[in-house]
Amino acid sequence: MNEMTNSHILVHGFEYLEPASLEEAISLLREHGDRAQVLAGGTYLLVQIKMERVAPEYVINVGKVPGLDGIAPHDGGLRIGALTKIRTIRNAPQVQAGYAALAEACAAFGSTQIQVMGTIGGNLCNGSPASDTVPALMAFGAQLVLAGPDGERILPVEEFLLGPGQTALRDGELLVAVQLPPLPQPLPSEGRGESAGGAGSAFIKISRVAADLAKASVAAVLLREGDRVVDCRLAFGSVGPTVSRTRRAEEVLAGKPFSAELALEAGRVAAEEISPIDDVRSTAWYRREVVKALAHDVLQVAWERAGEQEAGGRKQEAGSRRQEAGSTVLRNTQYATRNTLRVGPTETHIINLTVNGVRHTLSVAPNELLLNVLRERLELTGAKYGCGIGECGACTVHLDGKPALSCLVLAVAADGSQVLTVEGLARPDGELDPLQEAFIEHTAFQCGYCTPGMLMMTKSLLGEIPSPTEDEVRDYLKGNRCRCTGFASIVQAVMGCGQDGDH
Ligand SMILES: Cc1cc2nc3c(=O)[nH]c(=O)nc-3n(C[C@H](O)[C@H](O)[C@H](O)COP(=O)(O)OP(=O)(O)OC[C@H]3O[C@@H](n4cnc5c(N)ncnc54)[C@H](O)[C@@H]3O)c2cc1C
Ligand code: FES
Ligand code: FES
Repeated sequence: MNEMTNSHILVHGFEYLEPASLEEAISLLREHGDRAQVLAGGTYLLVQIKMERVAPEYVINVGKVPGLDGIAPHDGGLRIGALTKIRTIRNAPQVQAGYAALAEACAAFGSTQIQVMGTIGGNLCNGSPASDTVPALMAFGAQLVLAGPDGERILPVEEFLLGPGQTALRDGELLVAVQLPPLPQPLPSEGRGESAGGAGSAFIKISRVAADLAKASVAAVLLREGDRVVDCRLAFGSVGPTVSRTRRAEEVLAGKPFSAELALEAGRVAAEEISPIDDVRSTAWYRREVVKALAHDVLQVAWERAGEQEAGGRKQEAGSRRQEAGSTVLRNTQYATRNTLRVGPTETHIINLTVNGVRHTLSVAPNELLLNVLRERLELTGAKYGCGIGECGACTVHLDGKPALSCLVLAVAADGSQVLTVEGLARPDGELDPLQEAFIEHTAFQCGYCTPGMLMMTKSLLGEIPSPTEDEVRDYLKGNRCRCTGFASIVQAVMGCGQDGDH
């Protein structure tokens, strides 16, 4: 197979299947076996197809299967549906309060668009040692709920990952949910019957640029009492064939008084336990060195957080109780009865798209991308084809109100959606959006190719965070930055627009 091919269209043809229930999805997976690939957010699979690394005969889009999306309390911890988006997890109060390392891992993830589109299920099932959520899930002792032809089974995340790109998923199996146990509980305090101690967690990632996969990453979950580490779990990403725990380093910490020297010693032991390689992102030597510093830093943060919980009288536990009332409940798990949508590789399917307020009825092939439909069929050329693999942000549009990379969206899957492109920002009478005016006022431009995507992202940013700080602006736009033009003036334009509240 020819690797590294990429073009503005998706060359490979496949049959598109859109099951309406979990049962249908499992039965399709069982029927088509290795010839099928599951599609969730598509941010990994569609890149793999474009690069000709996989060539499925069937693409099974599980995105519309009910019951797989959302965060809910479960057995004192949380249950996160496999289709839950990375950004939803990052922003969920119950994750931020109880599982800081997971919220931080989601925040460190790729670009904002990838966070909005990518799912936790896809992050686990692609089997990458660089998957950002996995070190945190492993450190928390997460369990995976897998559904297949023989029913459901539960597997610890450590047993799920077998090697690069390899998981323990069996034929016909789908990842349904991730279950997070409650944090380790503080110990009863001697003689007083009250609890003492606290638990804390943290995640750190080192990457070449902000919107990139990890050179190395680490998550720690630590239980402390007074000046002593009671227990600790450390899991590293991108420094071996799978994400893995460093148990000898954990043993260095257990039961000892915490100090910077102890954290460094744990880092030195962890550096001996990992098995990094040289690749495009880093060298094995660098990875081994940086792991020492990462271990030290992550332990320091987790230690301090555990101390805050200890001092605050089990603040985190109170936090998680608070969220239970307002938590998202997993969507209705009733199985729908409608049959699977099937579109053969040489067939087309009629879809409806409302683009910039105008409804279009189009006949599309399974492998047609939203970007191609917008540019070539509707002649809306504002969204640009840049990299084609999710890295530049030039193709960004809004899909049902959220930023989306149109080079990684199948048009057939977008049936019934509302799309906003840069052409739709101005009013019908031609008056520019205040954001466009602010860009002009601040001379805030990238090149003609990249500016439309940047405008769509800044519009979305101001919708989500009306008065962003400079750090929030820089973080939100990390997937659209380009070294060849000025970024400072864009940040100023957005801040100016946000402060005025005029957008
Ligand atoms: C530009 C760019 C930047 C990225 N940056 C990061 C990053 O910083 N950190 C990071 O961790 N990842 C990153 N990724 C990788 C990817 O975006 C994430 O792994 C994402 O979480 C994948 O989720 P998805 O829903 O898009 O998966 P998909 O592409 O839909 O699926 C991924 C794989 O998992 C399988 N699959 C998906 N869901 C299930 C399920 N429920 N059951 C069984 N199999 C399933 C699919 O068949 C496929 O093989 C990046 C990708 C791109 C293109
Ligand atoms: S063209 Fe879509 S992200 Fe580059
Ligand atoms: S290539 Fe467009 S701004 Fe750099």
